[in-house]
Amino acid sequence: MIRKAVLPVAGFGTRCLPASKAIPKEMITIVDKPVIQYVVTEAVKAGIKEIILVTHSSKSAIENHFDKHFELENQLEAKGKDELLDELRNIIPDDVNIISVRQPEALGLGHAILCARPIVGNDPFAVLLPDVLIDDDGLETNDLAGMIEAYEKSGLAQIMVETVPHELTYKYGIVALEGDEPAAGQSAPLTGMVEKPKVEEAPSTLAVIGRYLLPGEIFPILAETKPGAGNEIQLTDAIETLRQKRGAAAYRMKGQTYDCGSQLGYLEATLALGRKHPKLGEGFRQLIQQYAAED
Ligand code: G1P
Repeated sequence: MIRKAVLPVAGFGTRCLPASKAIPKEMITIVDKPVIQYVVTEAVKAGIKEIILVTHSSKSAIENHFDKHFELENQLEAKGKDELLDELRNIIPDDVNIISVRQPEALGLGHAILCARPIVGNDPFAVLLPDVLIDDDGLETNDLAGMIEAYEKSGLAQIMVETVPHELTYKYGIVALEGDEPAAGQSAPLTGMVEKPKVEEAPSTLAVIGRYLLPGEIFPILAETKPGAGNEIQLTDAIETLRQKRGAAAYRMKGQTYDCGSQLGYLEATLALGRKHPKLGEGFRQLIQQYAAED
C-alpha cells in the first residue's frame, strides 16, 4: 500500500507576488481554505498517512496550519463555537502525520524530491505539487486513488497527464505514448518524457499535471540526474531514466485541474469552488450573476 506523499513547498512562488511576499503561496486562500489544505485533503482521501513537506525556513506557516493550535481551540471551546472547533480539529485526521524536511538550496523539483529520501526510504510514494488544485467533486474515488490502484496492479510508476493546447506544451513535462491515448481514469505505458520541450518538438499534447507515483528506486536516479531544463535538476529527467530501466505509465486524469501557481488560476479556482461551497455557494452565485450583468 502506498502511504507516503511528498509535497515540495520550498519554492518562493514568484509568479504569485506580491501575494506571496510574506506568506507562502501555498497559504493563499481559495474560498475559505489555504490551497495546501485542498492538496493534503486529496492525499488523505487516497489513503495517504504520512505527508512529507519539503520546505524552507520562510514557510513555517504551512506547518503551523496543520499543527494543533491549543490556545485557539481552548478559546473556541470556552465560547461554545463547536462547529468551528470541529472544523479546525479535523483539518487532518489523527492518524495522518505531517513531517518536514528542508530543501537547503533551490536546485529544482528533482532535488526537492531527493531531499525526502531519508524519510521515504525505499518505499513507493506519491508526489503532489501544491500548485495544482484538483476538483474531484462527483467522482467516487479521486485521481490519486486511481493512480495508486494502477501502480499496485502494474508495478509501473504513474504520472498524471491531461491534454493541453499545443502552443502551451513548452510550459510542461510532455509524455510520449505508443498507441492510443488512455481514456480518463486509465493508464498506458509511456515511451518517453521530456521537460518543457520547444513547442515544435513536443511529442504529444499530454502534459504532466503535478501528481506522480514513484518507486523508491527513483532516489538513486535523482542523485545522479544532472541539471536539465532551466538549469534545474528535473524530476521529469529522472523519471525518463527510470522508464528506460523498468517502464513507467501515464494516467489520464478524470478531475478538473486549476493552476494555482498563477494569479488567474487562483481566480478561476475561487470561481469554480466558490459556486459549489455548501455555505457560501448560494450567495456567491448571486454575486457572480450581479457582476456578470454589470459587464
Ligand atoms: C512542474 C513539472 C512539469 C509539470 C508542471 C505542472 O513544472 O516540472 O513537468 O508539467 O509542474 O504540474 P513547473 O510548473 O514547476 O515549472
